[in-house]
Amino acid sequence: MSSYKEEFERSIADPAGFWREKARNISWFREPTSVLSKDANDNDVWFADGELNTAWLALDYHIDQGRGEQTALIYDSPVTSTVTRYTFSQLRDEVARFAGVLRGLNVAKGDRVIIYMPMIPEAAIAMLACARIGAVHSVVFGGFAPRELATRIDDATPCVILSASCGIEFASVIEYKPLLDEALRIAEHKVNHCVILQRPQAQATMGELDVDWQDALKSAAPADAVPLRATDPLYILYTSGTTGKPKGVVRDNGGHAVALRYSMDAVYGVDAGDVYWAASDVGWVVGHSYIVYAPLITGCTTILFEGKPVRTPDAGTFWRIIADHKVDVFFTAPTAFRAVRKEDPDSTELAKYDVSSLKRLFVAGERTDPSTYEWLCETLKIPVIDHWWQTETGWPIAGNLMGLEPRTTKPGSANFRVPGFNVQILSEDHKEQGPGREGDVVVKLPLPPGCLPTVWGNHERYLESYMRHHPGYYHTGDGGYIDEEGYLYIMGRTDDVINVAGHRLSTGEMEEIVAAHPAVAECAVIGVEDRDKGQVPVGLLLLKDGVNTEIEHLQGDLVAMVRKEIGPIANFKRAIIVNRLPKTRSGKILRQTMRKIADNKPFDTPATIDDPAILDEIRDAMVANHIGLIGESA
Ligand code: COA
Ligand code: AMP
Repeated sequence: MSSYKEEFERSIADPAGFWREKARNISWFREPTSVLSKDANDNDVWFADGELNTAWLALDYHIDQGRGEQTALIYDSPVTSTVTRYTFSQLRDEVARFAGVLRGLNVAKGDRVIIYMPMIPEAAIAMLACARIGAVHSVVFGGFAPRELATRIDDATPCVILSASCGIEFASVIEYKPLLDEALRIAEHKVNHCVILQRPQAQATMGELDVDWQDALKSAAPADAVPLRATDPLYILYTSGTTGKPKGVVRDNGGHAVALRYSMDAVYGVDAGDVYWAASDVGWVVGHSYIVYAPLITGCTTILFEGKPVRTPDAGTFWRIIADHKVDVFFTAPTAFRAVRKEDPDSTELAKYDVSSLKRLFVAGERTDPSTYEWLCETLKIPVIDHWWQTETGWPIAGNLMGLEPRTTKPGSANFRVPGFNVQILSEDHKEQGPGREGDVVVKLPLPPGCLPTVWGNHERYLESYMRHHPGYYHTGDGGYIDEEGYLYIMGRTDDVINVAGHRLSTGEMEEIVAAHPAVAECAVIGVEDRDKGQVPVGLLLLKDGVNTEIEHLQGDLVAMVRKEIGPIANFKRAIIVNRLPKTRSGKILRQTMRKIADNKPFDTPATIDDPAILDEIRDAMVANHIGLIGESA
């Protein structure tokens, strides 16, 4: 039997035995005797009586193992022309001191701390400092607008917020403090303090409750790592669901550490001392798992990159960083490579750098279109692995197991089920689908360690969102199929979530904003395929009787509203006026029908939503399906 097959089958036949063995690869303060049990909610729980500290595991443990002088983190910021290195010892000391700052502000175990920061080392230091004292961090992506931040403040009820004076987007300086102040004004929950890091590019105006980051550090005493139960929450990360309110995905300490350590071994094939780079943002799950926790827990050197793959300064930025830091394994979103390819289709920039250290490339966050996949394979001539996962799972559900048994990949496929994830394909009426038959992609319970145990403050929402669609299975929200050879294909979301430039967004949330416009009677926002961003939102609008407005004006208003309420990352730029929206007899808008109609373009067509032909195509498709369109955007 192949080692992959054997390992996968063992993980499914005897989950407790399998994960007991994997749990030995991390260092516990108290080894768990219970591996898999049930909590009061009848939820599966991993390592219930184990004790550990994730920040200790990520830093102090390696110092104890003699790796104190190894580089733990490289901050590479082309937007500020900075490269800074931290050894494990230096990073541990910074984290311990900042943990002391939090202690000094009366942050205790279990308290929530929101981190709203750009991609600077202090963001990772803040996360690890929270973990060190058992505070629960909730990182909010810097590209979210104040209203989004306010929603998260009200849900997580933090005692302290950590932020910086600004972020840098290409050449623009984005001041964070006015956004934070606006969020605090909107939020009902009141925080005790904001700790603000002043960056040289912008000076934040400090208020009464604000504390200067550097001043606070001067008087802080380093704090030790506290023992935490495996089931204590490490963080909350909000992600888009089908409604306007994001879901607070909770991550525990023990299962998370065991799963991430295993993933570095089996999925990514990396070990202590390797240089691992995930070019994402700490605001997303990729940043949590594969910029901060997994590489450090494994004793790798991780890279924290502040910039964009193109125009900072050019399309060679990825290659320059791989060459400069001798990156072994690289992970990013396909959309980032589509941007690179667009600027430098012949890879002339690549030729300027020695990227021979690079052993393999992983892509995730959205489906990799075959054209980009093939371009990457031809350009790099190393294994390119599309792997699939979600904020909820925290680590890959499917991939090519590079540390276990690398196998041939198939373009368009997310490859194989990762051990621990018993992925099945079910029809709407819960019937298992055979090879090649599309259906709901689900995971038979128990989920492996590391996956969400609940939604913060709303266990009912957890049950409703994930557990009730198909009893006994976790509902991923993705549709797809498994072929005869066991390759899994993820074909897209079956709900109202879209994926725009690797950013997960809710069309329901956009609809709530668009519907608030005084001219709009009803609306639907659907995701339409886009060559660069993967998907982009398009609004279909039904106007109120008697409203006579130019689509250009209306569209301008709506774009501004969505940008203000969600943020620029929504990429909401297009709207079309229709004279009817398809509905069920009970009046429910058939979004899925419209999505299917709009989604009739092959991904490889060289089109973006800026091409007028795309809107023509959507219009024609809608008209052909009796959804009459009477206007459209320019
Ligand atoms: N703060 C403020 N604004 C931000 C921001 C941030 N952190 N991130 C993005 N924005 C802004 C952009 O500047 C842009 O503004 P504009 O409309 O004024 O031009 C807008 O949001 C849209 O951003 P995006 O669609 O991300 O395009 P981009 O050109 O800024 O970046 C990529 C392109 C490919 C680099 C980026 O989309 C990316 O890294 N995506 C991958 C995300 C990811 O890692 N997902 C996790 C899975 S691996
Ligand atoms: P997020 O929670 O932001 O990581 O987004 C998770 C969603 O992104 C998944 O449910 C999928 O819809 C999509 N996704 C992530 N990785 C892939 C992949 N490799 N192939 C297809 N879709 C993906």
